[in-house]
Amino acid sequence: MSVVRHIAIMGCGQLSRMLALAGMPMGFQFSFLAEAGEATQCISGFGEIVTITDQSPAELFEALGRPDVITVERESVNVPLLRELQEFCPVYPDPDVVWAIQNRHREKTLVSRLGIPLSPWARIQDNDPVAEAVKAIGGLPVVIKSTEDGYDGYNQWVAETEEDLKAFDAERTKLLQQVVETGKGINEWIVEKKIAFDREISVIGVRNKQGDVVFYIPGENRHQKGILKSSIVPAPLLSDTLKQKAEAYITCLLKETNYVGVLALECFVVGDDLMVNELAPRVHNSGHWTMDGAVTSQFENHIRAIANLPLGETSMHGVAGMVNLLGFKLSDETSAPVQLVGEKAHLHWYGKSSRPGRKLGHVNIICDDEQALLAAIEKVEESYS
Ligand SMILES: Nc1ncnc2c1ncn2[C@@H]1O[C@H](COP(=O)(O)OP(=O)(O)O)[C@@H](O)[C@H]1O
Ligand SMILES: [Mg+2]
Repeated sequence: MSVVRHIAIMGCGQLSRMLALAGMPMGFQFSFLAEAGEATQCISGFGEIVTITDQSPAELFEALGRPDVITVERESVNVPLLRELQEFCPVYPDPDVVWAIQNRHREKTLVSRLGIPLSPWARIQDNDPVAEAVKAIGGLPVVIKSTEDGYDGYNQWVAETEEDLKAFDAERTKLLQQVVETGKGINEWIVEKKIAFDREISVIGVRNKQGDVVFYIPGENRHQKGILKSSIVPAPLLSDTLKQKAEAYITCLLKETNYVGVLALECFVVGDDLMVNELAPRVHNSGHWTMDGAVTSQFENHIRAIANLPLGETSMHGVAGMVNLLGFKLSDETSAPVQLVGEKAHLHWYGKSSRPGRKLGHVNIICDDEQALLAAIEKVEESYS
């Protein structure tokens, strides 16, 4: 196996930044592929940034400085381009897996095929009657999600009543009109049963090319308006049965897809059952605590996996929490809130400009016990909101 020294990442956001920050101490060089108009502040000064225009894949590979491996920081990437780049160096995770996960219909088809439980779902395209899909999955309430271009709760509609379905239909008419006018946009959705879950958890797993698999202790995630607000690890009240299920599902997904790199799995806890909500073929916000709370961070383990290195220990000391710092007003609050740094609190600031709801940074808190952790999380949330 060839030695990896140079890693190129498709995407220039905070996940790329944290991947590069994890890889640099091991001596890796980085370069980045940006879409036209993509913000690149997060990785400014970290390596060559190549903006995709009309270059051939060979020209892009050269411009990136002939990387030894290419990876991604998000699922909504140009998969045909990734496939073409595979001619020049390995791309991990495999573009076919990214392709499967970047569309909710293909993602749910994959998870169902592996016999892993999901919320009942049906697909609608164009003007397919939404009422029939709702009936097929057992009636209201439902959550309707575009199959692509949805993240942090965008492009989702919760329908509790017939009226809500009508509101969705009105919105859909506008979206379909946009597709007619511009040739692009949203024309496919997943209708899924709204689950009255007890809690949301996630589990993060890693697999390298040799097939070694490790995973982190599952954490509980709290969302606000569809955006992750905080995580607590280990997930409080998670029974051994549920933990084992989460570990079995992530292991199955990693092995069955021949996955290389970090894969995240978001789940709903319903009694003693676990239902998969979605997958992310990349490092994940709910795993940011690992930067300070685990022996090896998810970022370092992703780099190790794609660089053919042994995976690092994933065990943790104490309990860990992560609080996202979301932009809350259209002001110039771009300087790091260093007042959040504390004895047990570690600030990670991404250097982005502020927009309401935008992820600007996060604070990791590592404590000896859960009570102290919850109090510390509350303190951060109160002083940054
Ligand atoms: N079927 C569902 N039932 C109940 N809540 C849901 C359902 N689907 C999504 N949600 C809520 O919305 C959040 C965001 O949905 P998700 O599918 O994870 O999309 P995103 O890609 O935006 O993260 C979830 O974390 C959960 O809180
Ligand atoms: Mg999600």
